[in-house]
Amino acid sequence: MKRLILLSTVLSLTLIIGACSELKDEKSPTQGNSTIHGVGFANAASENSHAKFLQKNGLNTQTCKSCHGYSYEGGTANKSCLTCHNKPDGPENCSTCHGTGNETVWKDPYGNTNSTVRSVGMHQIHVKGGSLGSPVPCKTCHVIPSKVTSAGHLDGAAHAEIRFDTTSVFYRSNAVYSAANVTCSNTYCHGNFNGGNLTSTMTWTDTSSTAAQCGSCHGDASKATLKEKAFPKTGHTAATVTSDCGTCHNAVVNSSLAIINPSRHVNGRID
Ligand code: HEC
Ligand code: HEC
Ligand code: HEC
Ligand code: HEC
Ligand code: HEC
Ligand code: HEC
Repeated sequence: MKRLILLSTVLSLTLIIGACSELKDEKSPTQGNSTIHGVGFANAASENSHAKFLQKNGLNTQTCKSCHGYSYEGGTANKSCLTCHNKPDGPENCSTCHGTGNETVWKDPYGNTNSTVRSVGMHQIHVKGGSLGSPVPCKTCHVIPSKVTSAGHLDGAAHAEIRFDTTSVFYRSNAVYSAANVTCSNTYCHGNFNGGNLTSTMTWTDTSSTAAQCGSCHGDASKATLKEKAFPKTGHTAATVTSDCGTCHNAVVNSSLAIINPSRHVNGRID
């Protein structure tokens, strides 16, 4: 009798351990293999991962639904995507391909992180904001799809569409984005305002750019002192501006011309 109990304990323990490791194989992104899709399909680190497969196929997850279910709940494949992609709308949640916005580097939907790649470019500094200005929302430069399947989103076009938001305080009707040159010209932020460098052109993928220097957007970056660099083209003359810039613009700069409040600089109004 005692031996029987021991045997059955050992047996059920083996079963539990067995079941656990089976569960792990199914759900762990580091181990998932698939007989239909091949080794490593559910393994994020594999060259054969479903993410890499999707990246090579325009990130279209609609074709997955025929087997994995219309809400990705499992379907006839009996494998749910929602076990791993557990945010609202599962794999179609914006963060699946665009991240949460808290990443320390910008990763495009294909996994690129190098700023010289146009789909990466200067996103990080614009979207996160920095010492010169507040974060710029996506909709300032793009049309925002409400769903993954919205018209114009995954349209197979070679590059993302740039559509400046006409309702933004930053909007200037003569601002242009050139997809051919990957440049922005005549934007408010980079100088298209009274006294600014009205027609300055910025290259989105130029990592050596001096775009963040005083004088790039207003004034003259080649001058020696910060005061001379930032000095606007009109409105001020050396004669009228004898005091520190911070005397009048004390919400934005201090007497040594450090930007003390980025949210008041490049914000659509003169402070
Ligand atoms: C023809 C039916 C079919 C289509 C279409 C299909 N799958 Fe699957 N998929 C399955 C089946 C069946 C399984 C479970 C059996 C297996 O893993 O081999 C599976 C398993 C998986 C797994 C592993 C899940 C796990 O928990 O181990 C992933 C990941 C996956 N599929 C992703 C996708 C993606 C992404 C697409 C669309 C690009 C897709 N599948 C399209 C049938 C399909
Ligand atoms: C075993 C867990 C797991 C399952 C099941 C799973 N995924 Fe994923 N998926 C991941 C992980 C982890 C990543 C992130 C990979 C990375 O960042 O390299 C990912 C990435 C993705 C991406 C983003 C691709 C990109 O890089 O932009 C899409 C889209 C996606 N999965 C769709 C699906 C669909 C559709 C299914 C079901 C058919 C599915 N996934 C099932 C774990 C899973
Ligand atoms: C399955 C992956 C995936 C998901 C999920 C996804 N996107 Fe995208 N998104 C992409 C890809 C790929 C592109 C580039 C497509 C192109 O230019 O044709 C893109 C482009 C964009 C762009 C740039 C403008 C454009 O349309 O080219 C914006 C903005 C955007 N997505 C926002 C969103 C929002 C908001 C959501 C959630 C409602 C979302 N995306 C969900 C893959 C995805
Ligand atoms: C300051 C303007 C600006 C802002 C803000 C901005 N983008 Fe972009 N985005 C661009 C430019 C410029 C490109 C490159 C377009 C090209 O390749 O011609 C781009 C490209 C992209 C692409 C690349 C798609 C592809 O296939 O080439 C995606 C995806 C994207 N943006 C999503 C977003 C999302 C999501 C946000 C907000 C979190 C955002 N962008 C904010 C300017 C911006
Ligand atoms: C005596 C007060 C005063 C001082 C000192 C001053 N500004 Fe201004 N600044 C103004 C006023 C007033 C405006 C708004 C003028 C207008 O609406 O045209 C302005 C506007 C600006 C603008 C927006 C462009 C423009 O011409 O309207 C910039 C850029 C600027 N100042 C930078 C500076 C810098 C850099 C310094 C230091 C070299 C400085 N200011 C010193 C009063 C001052
Ligand atoms: C990316 C472009 C850009 C750069 C680089 C830049 N500025 Fe500005 N600056 C602006 C814009 C746009 C305005 C117009 C007013 C606004 O939107 O705040 C402005 C306005 C100002 C003003 C007037 C007060 C106000 O309203 O903000 C001061 C002072 C100023 N800048 C100082 C500086 C100094 C000092 C530097 C270098 C540390 C600098 N700026 C670099 C874009 C820039």
